[in-house]
Amino acid sequence: MQLGPYLLPNPYFVAPMAGVTDRPFRKLCRKLGAGHAVSEMVTSRPDLQASLKTSRRANHDGEPGPIAVQIAGTDPVMMAEAARYNMERGAQIIDINMGCPAKKVCNRWAGSALMQDEPLALSIIEAVVAACAPRGVPVTLKMRTGWCEARRNAVVLARAAEAAGVQMITVHGRTREQAYRGHAEHGTVAAVKAAVGVPVVANGDIDSPQGARRVLRETGADAVMIGRAAQGRPWIFREIAHFMATGTLRAPPLVAEVRQWLMEHLDDHYTLYGDGLGVRTARKHIGWYVQDLPGGPDLRDRINRTDDRTEQVRQVDDWLQWLHQRMDRLPAPDAAPHEIAHSDLMA
Ligand SMILES: Cc1cc2nc3c(=O)[nH]c(=O)nc-3n(C[C@H](O)[C@H](O)[C@H](O)COP(=O)(O)O)c2cc1C
Repeated sequence: MQLGPYLLPNPYFVAPMAGVTDRPFRKLCRKLGAGHAVSEMVTSRPDLQASLKTSRRANHDGEPGPIAVQIAGTDPVMMAEAARYNMERGAQIIDINMGCPAKKVCNRWAGSALMQDEPLALSIIEAVVAACAPRGVPVTLKMRTGWCEARRNAVVLARAAEAAGVQMITVHGRTREQAYRGHAEHGTVAAVKAAVGVPVVANGDIDSPQGARRVLRETGADAVMIGRAAQGRPWIFREIAHFMATGTLRAPPLVAEVRQWLMEHLDDHYTLYGDGLGVRTARKHIGWYVQDLPGGPDLRDRINRTDDRTEQVRQVDDWLQWLHQRMDRLPAPDAAPHEIAHSDLMA
């Protein structure tokens, strides 16, 4: 898929998730087959740009391109400024967040709340495109199907966004009112695809290669975006690519491969966050990797009780070696064996 000057290697994207898709995780997803990875959202508030959290999010050292940064805010001038700020720090694609259900910026709701104020949404899009166009940086948009069931205006906004110069549109098949409840509906995604000429990305509840193929077929979308199903399973992208190419399911990864990826992930994670914060924030990633696996919940309990990097790595490594003695490959996702007790794990 062509996005401005960039040819994306495949149409299986990892979704931006604040607190999850940081640079280490994005790098790993790309290495394991994701064709595109957008950063966690970065606030447009200038007073927060110097904060450690925001500057960490705007740091792309060693990240393979094209580097896509998502910005969130409610003010067109500040959003344009945020686009410039991030382009100066390496952003090659700017994504506007109109999909997040819960982000308050300057006492106003940003993200998907903008969908209920179409003139303001359009002003933001125009201001960001005006800031990016002179540098040849494509602007993309991520949104939901609408504000609420009665006001599903994704098609109207998508048409206006395309006319304003947006080059790719992602639609999460839920309204803002739904937050993450219920199921994603992809009928609106199909309607958006039929209404615009720019590439459309379908998002919401895709958690398997079969699901990716079904949504691509149902919507005619150009790509799919995977969020929660990639947590602790970054190899889902190569599984989708294999299934789409061959029609057969790829064997689950070898435990030895998972060990290599997880260790690499942890190492990169501690380097970005430092040992103290790194150990605490790595816990959720480790928890996702090990959930549904033998001894997983037990390992999670133990790593929640240590604040030491060396000890955290040792616990994870011991568990992986223990797992390796019992199986070569991870179980297929639907066939995860039942939990094994702590006493068994320690045996
Ligand atoms: C923990 C978490 C953080 C998220 N943060 C963002 C964000 O920063 N920007 C955004 O556009 N969407 C964000 N989302 C929404 C996802 O990008 C995605 O649209 C949503 O999770 C639906 O996709 P899924 O069913 O594949 O998870 C977030 C979702 C989760 C679960």
